[in-house]
Amino acid sequence: MKNIIQFHQLKIVAVQYETDTAVRLGFHIPESKKGDFQFEPGQYLTISLTINGKKVRRAYSICSPTHQSVISVLVKRLDNGLVSNYLNDRARVGDSIDVLPPSGRFKLTLNKNAEHHYYFFGAGSGITPLISMIASLLESEPHTHCYLLYGNRDEDCILFRKKLERLQLVYKNRFVLKHILSRPKKVRPNGTFGFLRPPKVEWQGEIGRIDKKRISDSLQDENFKTLKIDGYYICGPGPMIEATFDGLTDLKIEKDLIHREYFSAPVADISDVDSVSSGGAQVTSNVKVILDGKKIDLTITDDTNIVQALLRKDIEPPYSCLSGTCSTCMAKLEKGEVVMDVSIGLEEDEKERGFVLTCQSHPLTEEVTINYDKGL
Ligand SMILES: Cc1cc2nc3c(=O)[nH]c(=O)nc-3n(C[C@H](O)[C@H](O)[C@H](O)COP(=O)(O)OP(=O)(O)OC[C@H]3O[C@@H](n4cnc5c(N)ncnc54)[C@H](O)[C@@H]3O)c2cc1C
Ligand code: FES
Repeated sequence: MKNIIQFHQLKIVAVQYETDTAVRLGFHIPESKKGDFQFEPGQYLTISLTINGKKVRRAYSICSPTHQSVISVLVKRLDNGLVSNYLNDRARVGDSIDVLPPSGRFKLTLNKNAEHHYYFFGAGSGITPLISMIASLLESEPHTHCYLLYGNRDEDCILFRKKLERLQLVYKNRFVLKHILSRPKKVRPNGTFGFLRPPKVEWQGEIGRIDKKRISDSLQDENFKTLKIDGYYICGPGPMIEATFDGLTDLKIEKDLIHREYFSAPVADISDVDSVSSGGAQVTSNVKVILDGKKIDLTITDDTNIVQALLRKDIEPPYSCLSGTCSTCMAKLEKGEVVMDVSIGLEEDEKERGFVLTCQSHPLTEEVTINYDKGL
C-alpha cells in the first residue's frame, strides 16, 4: 500500500450554490496532475485549510463524473461547522486550495462492456458520491441500469435536482429516479381568496423517510423482485444508512453486495493533538511504526492515538476525517493490541485480518507494531 500524503495546490474554477446551504466547488486539474487525480466514482478528496491559524483537513466526496475535466465537490453547511461554513462563505473562483489525490473504498470500477443493475439509496448531502457513480455509469456503461431512491426534508433541500432530472430525461430507459420527502412544503392556493384557505402540500411524489418498510416496498415491487442487482450503495446520515442496511439484510440480500459511506464529525483537528479522546492505554507503550519504508519509534504514555502521536513528532501519516469513517489512516497491526474508539470505516473481515484505523487506535500493550505499508 502506497501512502500518498502529498498535497497538491488546485485552483477553484467554479463556485456554484446548489441550494442556500450547499456550494459546489470545481477544481481545475492541470495536465501534469491528471494522473494523480484520476478517480473511481464514489471516492473523495481531502482538503487542507488553515482557518484562524488552525490547520484542518476534511473529506468531501467527488460529485462530478469521471468523464469531466473539472473535479467537483459539494460542501453542505453544518450548524457551527468550521470548514463547511468557511467554504460556503469564502471560497472564490481563482483561490488555490491544498487537496490530496482521491481516495476511499466506496467506489465502482467502470467497465464499458458490463450490463449491471445498481440500486442507490441517498439522503441529503449523501447524494454526492452517488451522483458521480450514477452519471459515470450511465455515460460509460451503455448497458447498465441505475435506480436511485433519494430522501430529503423538503423540495428546497433536494441537491442536484435539475441534474438528476436531466439524467432521467437523457437516460430514460436506464435511470429510475424516485424522490422522497419527509416534510414537503405547504403552499397557500393561488387566487383572490387563496390567502384565506389553509396551505396545502403540492408535492406529488412520495412522502416519508427511507426506512426498513420503504426498502422492502421498493424492492418487493414487481419490477425488482426478479431483477439481479449487482450492488447497493448507501450514503446519508448514520440512522438512514443503518435503516437501509437492516432493510436490505432483512430481505436476505448478501452483505457483500451492500456498500456504505458514512460522513461524520472529525473528533479532533490537527492542531488539537493534545486534546485526546477516550479509551487509552494504562501502560507505557513502545510503538514501532512503518511508514513509506521508514521505521519510526514512538512512546505513548497516555490515551493519545497513533495519528496524534505521529503528528506530535511532526510526522504526517495518511489521514483525513479523524473520525473513524474514511479509512484513509488504515494500517496493519503487526504486534500487540490496540483499542479503537470508532471503527465504522473497517469491514469485519479487515478487522479479523488485523487492520486498524490509526486515528482511533490507542495502544493496550507495551509493544505495538503498526505497518502503514502493508497492503490489503
Ligand atoms: C468520506 C467522507 C466524505 C464526505 N463527503 C462530504 C460531502 O460530499 N459533502 C459534505 O458536505 N460533507 C462531506 N463529508 C463531511 C465533511 O468531511 C465534514 O465533516 C463536514 O463538512 C463538517 O465539517 P465542519 O468543519 O464544517 O464541521 P465541524 O466544525 O467539524 O463540526 C461542527 C459540528 O457538526 C458536527 N458534525 C460534523 N460533521 C458532521 C456530519 N457529517 N454530520 C452531522 N454532524 C456533523 C460536529 O459534531 C460538530 O458538532 C464527508 C466526510 C467523509 C468522512
Ligand atoms: S482519518 Fe478517517 S478513519 Fe482515520
